[in-house]
Amino acid sequence: MARHLITSAIPYINGIKHLGNLVGSQLPADLYARYLRGRGHEVLFLCATDEHGTPAELAAAKAGKPVADYCAEMHAVQAEIASGFRLSFDHFGRSSSAQNKALTQHMARRLGEAGLIREVTEQQMYSVADGRFLPDRYIEGTCPNCGFESARGDQCDNCTKQLDPIDLINPRSTVSGSTDLELRETKHLYLRQSALKGDLEAWIDGKTNWPVLSTSIAKKWLNDGDGLQDRGITRDLAWGVPAQFADAPWQGMDGKVFYVWFDAPIEYIACAQEWVDAGKGADWERWWRTDKGAADVTYTQFMGKDNVPFHTLSFPATILGSNEPWKLVDYIKSFNYLNYDGGQFSTSRGRGVFMDQALEILPSDYWRWWLLSHAPETSDAEFTWENFQASVNKDLADVLGNFVSRITKFCRSKFGETVPEGGTWGPQEDGLAEALKSRLSAYETFMDDKEVRKAAAELRAIWVLGNEYLQSAAPWVTFKEDPEKAAMQTRLGLNLIRLYANLAAPFIPDASTTMLTAMNAQNADWPTDMVEALHSLPAGHAFVVPEVLFAKISDEQREDWQMRFAGVRT
Ligand code: 2FM
Ligand code: ZN
Repeated sequence: MARHLITSAIPYINGIKHLGNLVGSQLPADLYARYLRGRGHEVLFLCATDEHGTPAELAAAKAGKPVADYCAEMHAVQAEIASGFRLSFDHFGRSSSAQNKALTQHMARRLGEAGLIREVTEQQMYSVADGRFLPDRYIEGTCPNCGFESARGDQCDNCTKQLDPIDLINPRSTVSGSTDLELRETKHLYLRQSALKGDLEAWIDGKTNWPVLSTSIAKKWLNDGDGLQDRGITRDLAWGVPAQFADAPWQGMDGKVFYVWFDAPIEYIACAQEWVDAGKGADWERWWRTDKGAADVTYTQFMGKDNVPFHTLSFPATILGSNEPWKLVDYIKSFNYLNYDGGQFSTSRGRGVFMDQALEILPSDYWRWWLLSHAPETSDAEFTWENFQASVNKDLADVLGNFVSRITKFCRSKFGETVPEGGTWGPQEDGLAEALKSRLSAYETFMDDKEVRKAAAELRAIWVLGNEYLQSAAPWVTFKEDPEKAAMQTRLGLNLIRLYANLAAPFIPDASTTMLTAMNAQNADWPTDMVEALHSLPAGHAFVVPEVLFAKISDEQREDWQMRFAGVRT
């Protein structure tokens, strides 16, 4: 069996993520991890929180907490919600870990020794009152373009003009409000990405099977005039991985840290070390070092489109530039955006449904199914409450749930809660097995190809086949004239439940467990032979009628939620 390393883009620590974030990285990564495990492959599925940078510092300040405490708390909150959504990470790490600090400094040292880092002296705003340099987001002032009084150092939120802090009229520090600011010289490290352009280009050119979204963004940045510029990888911040360290090949970087986008992807590797250090795994190098076994690993990353440049160019530049045998990503699955009810999800404005709120109103399977079956793959997608209600009620309640309830209840009423005996398959059953076999093979191909929406549609079609069979076989009618035949039809129906539980597990893991438990078949395997799979529950096997799998969403509930989430999150 193959070995698969899977990572999801690591969410920023500052706050709870919305459903658009979830469907663009963690959720499809989980789908793929569960599928591969189900097929018997060895999987290491990693995610973490992205804890450095100004957003973390600002959020902590807003919460009135020391940034380290804030991050620890928010990590626990995000971990709890991830488990609520049944995200099956082998480890949910933290980019602020000691492992990531050491590895980030190691990578920087290697890059420095390879001559790929230059020291650049530049002018930056210094706040005398705060005793520190101020990054762009820590400076506010009046926009020279529109007169808006709270324009940030990097951009005016009112007229969207990109700004430089020195453009602002009456600039002030957002840390203290002080206007005692001056330009001072400061030194930063730049990664010479331009020197790696050829290597990166050749690498990307080899990725002919990647989604167009991933390669087109990479090529745009490679070939755009300002594409692969050397990139500043340090910042004047206190919170982050210190840029000055014992064996650093440079001096004078005290008080500076690495830029958050430099250390965040390195956490993918550090997270595997954390996984081992937490006692969950024995060996991280066989996943990450091609000289230690990772050459056999297939590595897949999941992310939203805004993250693609960092994963196709910046992080590979770090890896290639280190000149060490780290595993490079084999496949980048990227997603467009999910919009919310005629607009955008917005974290800053609290618009849309956030992960914690979603779980407050419905179990995770409802969300998993809708989000995955509407994943924004080829274009942006939109969440509407009408569409959500229609999909849940039709796909989950009518097509799947009703099938399960109908066949189990019918069996209980006529044969009791054991798989009934008697009868043999006829042409109708053979035909069903054939149809299922070919749909299963399509389903597997879509899952292997990470075609999420198409896989969901195929799964649904597999459920529909069962419904159509039940409708036309009609064991409740057959029973009157030929109880043996009705027993055979019912037995097949019960076996279909087991099959569906198995195939649906990556999408709706809780419902799958409920179905398997009811069928008294917890340890189900992925089907390899359809006819065999449809005979795995033998006559005499005990089962129970499960609770209602999926409740329908009423118009009242829908309207209620529509109202509740229309405004701003409080
Ligand atoms: O966009 C984001 O949410 C980033 N925190 C993703 C980082 S992914 C990585 F490279 F670690
Ligand atoms: Zn403006």
